[in-house]
Formats: sequence, C-alpha cells, structure tokens
Amino acid sequence: MVSFNVPADAYARFMGQYAEPLAGLFVELADVRPGQHALDVGCGPGALTGLLVDRLSGPAVAAIDPSAPFVAATAARFPDVDVRSGVAEHLPFQDDSFDRTLAQLVVHFMSDPVAGLREMARVTSPGGLVAACVWDHAGDTGPLATFWQAVRDIDPGASDESDLAGTREGHLAELCEAAGLASTESSKLTVRVRFATFADWWEPYTMGVGPAGAYVAQLDEPGRDAVRSRCAQRLPAAPFEVSASAWCVRARV
Ligand SMILES: C[S@@+](CC[C@H](N)C(=O)[O-])C[C@H]1O[C@@H](n2cnc3c(N)ncnc32)[C@H](O)[C@@H]1O
Repeated sequence: MVSFNVPADAYARFMGQYAEPLAGLFVELADVRPGQHALDVGCGPGALTGLLVDRLSGPAVAAIDPSAPFVAATAARFPDVDVRSGVAEHLPFQDDSFDRTLAQLVVHFMSDPVAGLREMARVTSPGGLVAACVWDHAGDTGPLATFWQAVRDIDPGASDESDLAGTREGHLAELCEAAGLASTESSKLTVRVRFATFADWWEPYTMGVGPAGAYVAQLDEPGRDAVRSRCAQRLPAAPFEVSASAWCVRARV
C-alpha cells in the first residue's frame, strides 16, 4: 500500500497506460449500462471511474481507495462522484447499494481478498454483478513480465508479484467462491501498448510506483543499470508493442 502513496500522474505514466485500455474492456465484461449505480473499488487515479461516469453519469458512480493522492486526484477529476478514502475489506456503504461493484487491478493488493470480495458482494443488490480483474503476473503475460524476468535473471531470489492473490489462472474464481459468490464466470482480457523508445518504457519504472517501482527504488545505481540493460536485451528494438493480459471474473449476486 505504501507503494501507491505516489503522485497520480506517476501512476498514470506507469500502469495507467495499460489500465486505461483495460478499463474499456472491463466495463464491457461487467455489462455496465445506463440507469445502473456502480462502485469502483480501489479506483486509483480514476481510469475505470472515468468510463463509469461516461456511461452512468457522475451521481450514479461511487469510488473508494486507501491512497490519499489517488482519492484527491479522482475527486478533483470527477466532482459529481462520491469518492471516499477506505479499503475494500470495510466498505462504508449500505447493503444492496450498487448494481455493479468493480475492482480493476486491486484484489492482489487487498490484505484480505476474500473479505474484500465479500464486502463487494454485500454492497451489491441481488441480481447485480461483482467483477474483478488482476494482471497475469503468475503466467508471465502481464505488463511487467519482461521487467520481472530481467530481475530474476540477475537476482533469482527476488520476490516478484507472481504469488499475489488472483494472479494465476482460476484463482479469482476460487476467491469469489470463498467469499460466498457461487455463480462465477472467468475470462482473460488483453491490451497492447506501443512504445516509441526504450526510454519511454523504462522511465516509469524509476518512479517508485507499485512493487516493481519499489524494487527499482531500493537498488543502488549499478544494480539499477544492470536491470535496465537486461530489460533492454530482452525487449525488441524500438518502436515495439507490449501485450498485457489480465485474469477476470464476474459473479452474479
Ligand atoms: C494497480 S492500482 C489500480 C488502480 C485502478 N483501479 C486502475 O485500474 O488504474 C491498485 C489500487 O488499489 C488500491 N488498494 C490497495 N489496497 C486496497 C484495498 N485493501 N482496498 C481497496 N483498494 C486498495 C491502491 O491504493 C491502488 O490505487
């Protein structure tokens, strides 16, 4: 959680470039339609919140996140949205408040993912949908695959993000079932992001965002140079595209 106490534009330049196109696919998967009320759990700086506002209007959308800079950024960007500070495990909303409760790229950061999903189900009205997605860090088709492969080449003992909840195939559905959500459907969504230069790809890793940014931040300069060079060897010549896949689950309440 500390690694998300960063300026909103640092997140936007790093994971935001993958999260924005993913949000477009995720709202489709969650069947978000006008007339509904929706909650964006772990909204970050608002990649998904923005699409929910486009579809439903600001007053029909609520958002929550524990990171103070992200809450401030989302509230400033969407003044009509009810943006709150808090965590999935203790949602400050009444039972049955929303038709759609979504968590994009959040379950793997929850301290108790089952409790978080159970809370998401509680605030969703009967017949509504809970939906979650998490990058495929365990299967190495996530957006950070090249980075963590390069790190493991140099430092085989480094702890990457592959053990986190929901990052392996089928695990999101298992977590939903443990949270009492019986009717689950799983899928995989993929986005592609183009980089004009290697520097455009590398620089966001130096901004301290998330576990990858935290890993780079604790390296000394020779260590950082070694990871950077290994990444450059592993990537194609610029310009190049990075493909990023996320496991998704949606569950009827
Ligand atoms: C990778 S970011 C995703 C942000 C946004 N949903 C997006 O797709 O761009 C993960 C977010 O989860 C938030 N987060 C971490 N732990 C959380 C928890 N227990 N409950 C809700 N959100 C949490 C972080 O503060 C961060 O904003």
